[in-house]
Amino acid sequence: MSLNIEYSDKMHFASIRADFPILSQKVYGKSLVYLDNGASTQKPKQVINNITATYERSYANVHRGVHYLSQISTDAMELARGTVRGFVNARSDSEIIFVRGATEGINLVASSWGRENLKSGDEIILSEMEHHANIVPWQLVSEQTGATIKVIPISDSGELEMSEFQKLLSDRTKLVAITHVSNALGTIVPLSEIIRYSHDAGALVLVDGCQAVPHLPVDLQELDADFYTFSGHKLYGPSGIGILYGKESILESMPPYQGGGEMIDTVSFKGSTWADLPFKFEAGTPNIADAIGLGEAVNYVSSIGFDAIGAHEASLLSYATERLNQIESVKIIGNASNKAAIISFVIEDVHPHDVGTILDRDGIAVRTGHHCAQPVMERYDVPATVRASFAMYNTFEEIDLFVKGLQKVQEIFS
Ligand code: ALA
Repeated sequence: MSLNIEYSDKMHFASIRADFPILSQKVYGKSLVYLDNGASTQKPKQVINNITATYERSYANVHRGVHYLSQISTDAMELARGTVRGFVNARSDSEIIFVRGATEGINLVASSWGRENLKSGDEIILSEMEHHANIVPWQLVSEQTGATIKVIPISDSGELEMSEFQKLLSDRTKLVAITHVSNALGTIVPLSEIIRYSHDAGALVLVDGCQAVPHLPVDLQELDADFYTFSGHKLYGPSGIGILYGKESILESMPPYQGGGEMIDTVSFKGSTWADLPFKFEAGTPNIADAIGLGEAVNYVSSIGFDAIGAHEASLLSYATERLNQIESVKIIGNASNKAAIISFVIEDVHPHDVGTILDRDGIAVRTGHHCAQPVMERYDVPATVRASFAMYNTFEEIDLFVKGLQKVQEIFS
């Protein structure tokens, strides 16, 4: 295979890179090569400045005050909600709930929808490539309701076994909870097909979109997912804020998740009534500045656009895969035909943590471990992997440095 891959628009991406102040620093005297974007992306100055500006000029509690600052803070937060709605093409702002992150989004659905709708004999289908955040909440709700969990297996190349999925579906299936893109393998799952089959069987679908939204456009009306959740910090936005989307009619039918201020209409000791959507699911003072910052991150990503991001990341993935495949001792785990820019791999006879530590001393940040996806490690019979996950600001030169680092690992261990 030739290495003569056409570089995507270098100048454009050089100017994007300049938006991320943290990327220009040195670690251990070496230029930082940040390839841990699956764990969390870095933040552009537009987002950092936006958060600072909120606290410096327009911060107050929201939805409560008649005073000036409270009103502009409320307006900014609701504008951010609308921005996110547009980004994922939901029908209404009522369907966009601010949560702490995808983990809270899934726990919200498991607790509220799950406890209300699941009973003994019901089944929830998950896949073998789920993040722990899309496994454990379902185990907890299964223990409480008597529902059982079925698991879609994955193939050697890291794809969902769709024929097995179809066999698992039945009138007992009440929910299919599935990732859009695997954080451990990079696989992009055939979501439209999964949703169609699940709906035909009468089941709802919850999608963990954490690793999808930074890489590809998501149109929730077209997808027809019932729930879709993601975290802001993987989308160039702040940590501690995320989104749960739910179809309005389903959210309307669900009981509140947490009780407190903001989520009520009236409270008396005889009983309380709930606020309208989305506030029914937003108890307490929300993470105001970070919600507004998430809106800014979405604006930033949208201003670059997924055509450009997708083309650049696909080139990075293809180049990195090709270079890694040339190192004999490297084995890539997950070779699905449709992948986001994530590569998991092992090096023969070297523990992933040693790989990560040696790379780190050269300023190269990768994640090593089970990536909160222990069933994936079990499936491929590895204790852990090294994972390089790319973002729009990564460069081909960084991949060269990364490969050089891996060659060094090989030399040290040979
Ligand atoms: N879920 C994050 C990851 O994949 C933390 O690394």
